Amino acid sequence: LTLTDCGLDPSPSQAGELLRSEAPLPEPFQVPLPIPPVKKPVRTGAGADYYRVVQQKASVEILPGLKTEILGYDGLLPGPTFDVRSGRTTVIEQVNRLDVPTAVHLHGGHTPAASDGWPLDLLMPPGGHEGHSGHHTMTGGDVKTGSRRYTYPNTQRAATLWYHDHRMDYTAPQVYRGLFGFHLVRDDEEDRLPLPAGDRELPLVIADRAFAEDGSFLYPQAKDRPGVESAYMEGVIADVTLVNGAPWPVHEVAAVRYRLRILNAANARRYELAFDKGPAKFVQIGSDGGLLDAPIEHDTLVIAPAERFDVIVDFSQYQPGDEVTLVNKLDGDTNVLRFKVARKAADDTRIPARLSTYAVVPEPAGIVRRKWKFSRGDAGGHKGWTINGKAFDPEVMQAQVKLDQYELWSFVTDVHHPVHVHLAPFQVLSRGGGGIGAYDAGWKDTVDVRPAEVVDVLVKFTAHKGKYLIHCHNLEHEDMAMMAGFETI
Ligand code: C2O
Ligand code: CU
Repeated sequence: LTLTDCGLDPSPSQAGELLRSEAPLPEPFQVPLPIPPVKKPVRTGAGADYYRVVQQKASVEILPGLKTEILGYDGLLPGPTFDVRSGRTTVIEQVNRLDVPTAVHLHGGHTPAASDGWPLDLLMPPGGHEGHSGHHTMTGGDVKTGSRRYTYPNTQRAATLWYHDHRMDYTAPQVYRGLFGFHLVRDDEEDRLPLPAGDRELPLVIADRAFAEDGSFLYPQAKDRPGVESAYMEGVIADVTLVNGAPWPVHEVAAVRYRLRILNAANARRYELAFDKGPAKFVQIGSDGGLLDAPIEHDTLVIAPAERFDVIVDFSQYQPGDEVTLVNKLDGDTNVLRFKVARKAADDTRIPARLSTYAVVPEPAGIVRRKWKFSRGDAGGHKGWTINGKAFDPEVMQAQVKLDQYELWSFVTDVHHPVHVHLAPFQVLSRGGGGIGAYDAGWKDTVDVRPAEVVDVLVKFTAHKGKYLIHCHNLEHEDMAMMAGFETI
């Protein structure tokens, strides 16, 4: 069966070369699940909270007994979690103490263009950096040195967002080395629901990494186009699964409901998460852009890079002493995370049949339609990936999009690509000519588009005029130019 024979092929990129660690790896389920610390503001004003983050190298123990040098927000992998209120502005001063330029993007954020992390709006480390950014010129960007302020109005529904590096040509290696973290937006609508909270609400960021013998990250050498290594070309997948930065961790739970906010921050790997033994299921309550209207039950959860699934899992179906393991079915039931059911406990949570109400967007007559075609290709001197036959050029806007009106965007791909749009979430209208897929419900900002399949979405941009991006969230594809600018007007 070839990829295009099979519209449902889970992942061509996983058919690519697997990076194998040279370091001794621990037995799974030895390391406790870390929970990233919640970032504290340095100051709180009327309507806004002010934070300061230092991007720095740090030497951290990921594999027991070995040190790994990371690039981390506050020296952490993952970075600290921002836990913010809808409608209250978050202002973050990012300080670059690395030796490489960075750009911070709030993924899923309704963010003014100046703070959206345009790949050439670089934050340079003080006193020079490692040379120029790939073969692109650095002109056209708003470049700052030392520190830079990012302003997030959080004028959006409660949702599981995340932030990560977006530097031109180097997003993949810099995220791989640690530049990612959670940004959780909360609101009154969600707070009113009787959902699990406190230590029964777990943010879980899954990502794969490989390690050299000395514990340092293994990553294919910088891709000097045109001699691109094929491992790089397809997207980098690796043999160690990290959850919240720990290899195949273990977490003790009570026999009650838990809320898991699952983020796939892998560069290129997809997961089909399942429990190794029943009866637990995933009851999905939210997606990228916040609560669904009604819960959806899944036996397995297919999650592409950058997607988020907000799910409730009911451990009361297990006995104290039971162990239940989250596995990835796409890779032959490989381990991800183990839960140890430690004790019984009272549980006053519920999953309401109605979670939220939002307008299901009708397709307006005479709507503006745009097609975005994601394919392999050589364009503009690149060997790599293209959108509508063009390699990313920061000087070229592929579309001018009017604010405040719905558009119907069609995504078409040659192989499997997770497609992400900045600034506004969208609703999936149809997949492959039929209805929506099992994982397409709610407001999405990233949708996994399979070979020879068209995904139609309705999207409306509001409030912010400027330059934004649509791109593939396989980060190696993104760095290899599978990105396009559009301008909201
Ligand atoms: Cu998560 Cu343009 O990125
Ligand atoms: Cu792609």
